[in-house]
Amino acid sequence: MLADQQILRIPGPTPIPPSVQRAMAQPMIGHRGQSTSDLISRIRPKLKRVFGTEQEVVILTGSGTAGLETAVVNAVAPGEEVLVIVTGAFGDRFVKICKAYHIPTHVLQVEWGKAVNPDLVREFLKEHPGIKAVLSTYCETSTGVLNPVKELAAAIREVSEALVIVDGVSCVGGVETKMDEWGIDILVTGSQKAFMLPAGLAFAAASERAWEKIEANPQPRFYLDLKSHRKNLEKDATPFTPALSILFGLEQALDLMEEEGLEEVYARHTLMMKMTRAAFEAHDIPLLTAAADASPTVTAVRPDDFDAEAFRKVMKAEFGISMAGGQQQLAGEIFRIGHMGYCSAADVLQIISAIEIGLMKIGKKIELGKGTGAAQQTYLNERVEQQ
Ligand SMILES: Cc1ncc(COP(=O)(O)O)c(C=O)c1O
Repeated sequence: MLADQQILRIPGPTPIPPSVQRAMAQPMIGHRGQSTSDLISRIRPKLKRVFGTEQEVVILTGSGTAGLETAVVNAVAPGEEVLVIVTGAFGDRFVKICKAYHIPTHVLQVEWGKAVNPDLVREFLKEHPGIKAVLSTYCETSTGVLNPVKELAAAIREVSEALVIVDGVSCVGGVETKMDEWGIDILVTGSQKAFMLPAGLAFAAASERAWEKIEANPQPRFYLDLKSHRKNLEKDATPFTPALSILFGLEQALDLMEEEGLEEVYARHTLMMKMTRAAFEAHDIPLLTAAADASPTVTAVRPDDFDAEAFRKVMKAEFGISMAGGQQQLAGEIFRIGHMGYCSAADVLQIISAIEIGLMKIGKKIELGKGTGAAQQTYLNERVEQQ
C-alpha cells in the first residue's frame, strides 16, 4: 500500500478537488481590503443558488455545529418551546444545544434508520400549540437517511407558525435544496461535506419571517449574532476575521459546481447512492435504510453476519480506505460510506470492488465481482441507456 495514499470515504470531511487545494494555497490577503470584498461579492450570489434562496447566506467561521448553535440562539427567544425531530445523532445534537440554553425542548424520536413522517409532526404540533420552532435534520449523517424536509416544512406551516429550522450540513450542495420554495425558515450547512472544502466554515440563511424574529429576539449572543453578520455581508464584509483560505477555496468549489450544473451535481449524487446500494443488495448485505429514505450522500450498511468494526479495520489496513463507523446506539452495528462532494461513479466502482476483497479477507463467503457488477449495471441503466 502507498504510505501516503488515503482514500477518504467517510461522510465528511470529504476529499478536496486539486483546483480547490490550489485556490486555498494563495498568499494571505487583508480581510478588510478590496480583494476580500470582491471575493465575498462574487461568492454571495453563488451561495444563494445552492441554498435555493433570495436571502443572504451568512458565512460563519466555525464548524457545522456553530451553524446549528447560530440557528438556535438567533431564532429561539428565552423560555420559548421548541420541537426537535431526532432521527439520529445529529438531531440529538440539536437537543443538546437547546438544553444548553435551557430551552424547553420537546423531542420527537424516530427509529434510527428511518425518515420522519411529516404527519406525526403535524399531529404533534396540533397537540402542542406553544411550540415556536421545529428543528430537523435534512440528511441524518449517522444513519444515511434523507428526511423529507419539503413535505415536513409544508406540514409544519399547515398547522403552526413555528419556524422551520433545518440542519443541511451533510447534504446541501449534493441534493436538491429549495429553501424559499419549500418554506424553510433557517437553513444551515458546513464546508467539509458536499462543498468539497476543509472544515471551518458554516453557512446559514434565514427567511423574511425568521429575520423578523431574529431582529426582535432578546437572547444574548455575540459571535454568532446573525444581525451583525448580515449587516456586514451587505457591504461584502464579515464582522470578524474570516477563514480566508477556505473562502478562496469556496469560490473555486462553487465554480466547479456551477460548471457541472447543480442539477447534474444532484444527479451524480443520486447515481452514486444507487450504485452503492445495488452492490450491497447483490450480496444480500442489509442496508440500514429503505430506498425511499436513503440519502444520496451517505450509505449506512448493517451487516448481520460479520463484524462492522473488523471490516473497517481491514479496509483501512489493506487499501487505506477510511469508512465511518456507527455513532451512539449504532456504534459497532453499522459502517457508513460517504459518497458526496468530490466523488464520482468511478470512485464508487473503486470502493465497491475493494470492499469485495475486504469482505473475503474477513471470511465472508461472497461471489467476487457480484457487487461491482451490480454497481456497473446500475451505472449503465442510469447513465448510458438514457443517452
Ligand atoms: C448533519 C450534521 N449536522 C451537524 C454536524 C456537525 O458538524 P461539525 O462536526 O462540523 O460541527 C455534522 C457533522 O458530521 C452533520 O453531519
